[in-house]
Amino acid sequence: MASIEQIDLSKLPKHIAIIMDGNGRWAKKKLMPRLFGHTNGVKTVKNIVEFARKLNIRVLTLYAFSTENWQRPEEEVSGLMKLLKLYLKQELDSMIKNDISLKVIGDISKIPTDIQADIKNAIEKTKNNKALILNIALNYGSRQEILRACKILIDKGIKDPTEKDFSDCLYTKNIPDPDLLIRTSGEKRISNFLLWQIAYSEIYVTDVLWPDFSEEEFIKAILDYQKRERRFGKIA
Ligand code: IPE
Ligand code: IPE
Ligand code: MG
Repeated sequence: MASIEQIDLSKLPKHIAIIMDGNGRWAKKKLMPRLFGHTNGVKTVKNIVEFARKLNIRVLTLYAFSTENWQRPEEEVSGLMKLLKLYLKQELDSMIKNDISLKVIGDISKIPTDIQADIKNAIEKTKNNKALILNIALNYGSRQEILRACKILIDKGIKDPTEKDFSDCLYTKNIPDPDLLIRTSGEKRISNFLLWQIAYSEIYVTDVLWPDFSEEEFIKAILDYQKRERRFGKIA
């Protein structure tokens, strides 16, 4: 059994990004509607955020809603938005208490306006918190982000941008690239997530469906990461 004591604290990933996938299949296995899976996925989010905080992870990025997810049935999309609203309401006090700073990546102008206000309020109330950055990807798509960055560069009149100039135009400005990218539910794809930022991230895919993703599964991913040799194109 993987346990917290096995983790090498000197080799912790600073930034972990997670593609939280498999809520729908989890519900289907239980003969329940997809939203039941999402509701249980939110419980996992709460648990994993708390655990990441305890482990001293600096940045946790969670893919919650993609630019492509609007193509799902209206009922599912509005259910997800309601869950987001509820999550912000339920978790704001705990973010404040636990020194967690909320950030959002993605185009939130398409999110219902009342939720945009809740998001801005939570970001503002937690902006000076230091222990953990909880970065939620909402209406996020990497291609949209990259195009947006190109437009910002043009507006700035930068004709020959450096990698740093480009990074500074992404939503993730000032956030280090993910060291570890986790995807649950077994799919071996990126689904338009952080294409620029994961250039050298270590990738870990587990078959566990997101609602079942436990502290132990999280530890397993970190232990696997700690066994990797990150070469960044160099030799050992
Ligand atoms: C991930 O679970 C949550 C979101 C994309 C919002 P899914 O809803 O994609 O679950 P599966 O992939 O259908 O099982
Ligand atoms: C990726 O999961 C998006 C989120 C986890 C929010 P999807 O379920 O939307 O991705 P695909 O469709 O399997 O690629
Ligand atoms: Mg999915």
